[in-house]
Amino acid sequence: MKDHARNSSSNLTRRDLLRTGSAALAASVLSTPLAWAAASDADITGRNSLKAHAHKHGLLTGFAVNVHLLRTDPVYTRILTEQASILVPELALKWVALRPAPDKFDFTDADTFVDFAHKHKIKLRGHTLAWHESIPSWFEATVTKENARHFLEEHIATVVGRYKGKMQSWDVVNEAILPKDKQPGGFRDSPWYKRLGPEYIDIAFRAARQADPKLILTYNDYGVEYDNEEDGERRKVILEFLRSLKTKGVPLDAVGIQSHIKAGSPSTIGKGLREYMAAVREMGLQIYLTELDVNEDDLAYNDVAKRDETIAATYRDFLNVALAEPSVKDLLIWGVGDSHTWLNDGPTHHRKQPNRPQRSLPFDNDYRPKPAFFAIRDAFDHRAKA
Ligand code: G3I
Repeated sequence: MKDHARNSSSNLTRRDLLRTGSAALAASVLSTPLAWAAASDADITGRNSLKAHAHKHGLLTGFAVNVHLLRTDPVYTRILTEQASILVPELALKWVALRPAPDKFDFTDADTFVDFAHKHKIKLRGHTLAWHESIPSWFEATVTKENARHFLEEHIATVVGRYKGKMQSWDVVNEAILPKDKQPGGFRDSPWYKRLGPEYIDIAFRAARQADPKLILTYNDYGVEYDNEEDGERRKVILEFLRSLKTKGVPLDAVGIQSHIKAGSPSTIGKGLREYMAAVREMGLQIYLTELDVNEDDLAYNDVAKRDETIAATYRDFLNVALAEPSVKDLLIWGVGDSHTWLNDGPTHHRKQPNRPQRSLPFDNDYRPKPAFFAIRDAFDHRAKA
């Protein structure tokens, strides 16, 4: 049992041990007579890693990657290599990162991400080729109804073509459905929809297939997880949309369920999600859990241990339902440690706990595995018994 533990006297932490990878350092720290400040962490590498447990049950698993941390944080990168069999960039393959100008591409961050994964033989997902968010500031005034198709096809041919043969799958279109926009078919009234109508979706998938015929082409969306009215409506509309794509022969291979779930939600997870996944399977499509994390803002108590246990139980309960579906092939977690989660970014006025950083991810700020890590790992093994 490898111990990586925090030592209160010398302030050597798990990060220090992992960063140096030094057995001598570890020996010196572990042999000090001082009491440990915290229980030592279990060994979570090798056969005890997330990827090893996932692999035993036919799954790939990993994280959304922050390229800045890839460049600057050796502990972060070590966790990626120890735990992940697939990775997706949180930002590096979005339009805003790739397109500094209408006639320019900047692959600096994307290449860093792809090269890292390639070097460590980790599979890759692309995210995302057509979305209403993170589009460059020049887009609105430059892309018109007349030239939108050209911009979309050129972007996909260039970006997918650059990484041809290196990507397992791409989120070709992200979040295209929003019934409350009151468009026919429940489509989101997005910049691409305003310019090309729903056909932008067909155009994007056909362009992706042409750019890399071996790619698994994915439609990715959120809000299908819970047994409540809003998610029920979204599931119904998305399934109708997916069936229409299949009927038109649009090249589509997989459906992403983002899996942004909530601790303390009044809604349950069960029948609705099971039926949705079965309906997707019946269309002959694979299912990826693409952006799993737990929003704990609704938890009224502050006790960290209690919050961590509730967050872990939320992961467990969701995954026990989702992983029971045989078509689920990938599980990606939307971040590694609590120091970098989108849930702690941006304005806090809408939050119930505005001054309380969320503990949403499997590792804490010091990259120590929390109960959530073990709940996710156990959920892979629970699949075998399902
Ligand atoms: O890097 C810049 C920094 O230089 C600048 O000072 C700062 C302030 O504007 O912005 C930084 O970029 C931010 C980027 O995250 C990196 O932190 C962008 O503004 C911000 O919009 C971006 O947010 C990302 C968001 O997607 C939009 O792309 C989140 O990190 C990311 O977690 C989130 O992920 C989305 C999925 O792609 C789709 N599903 C929902 C999910 C959560 O919103």
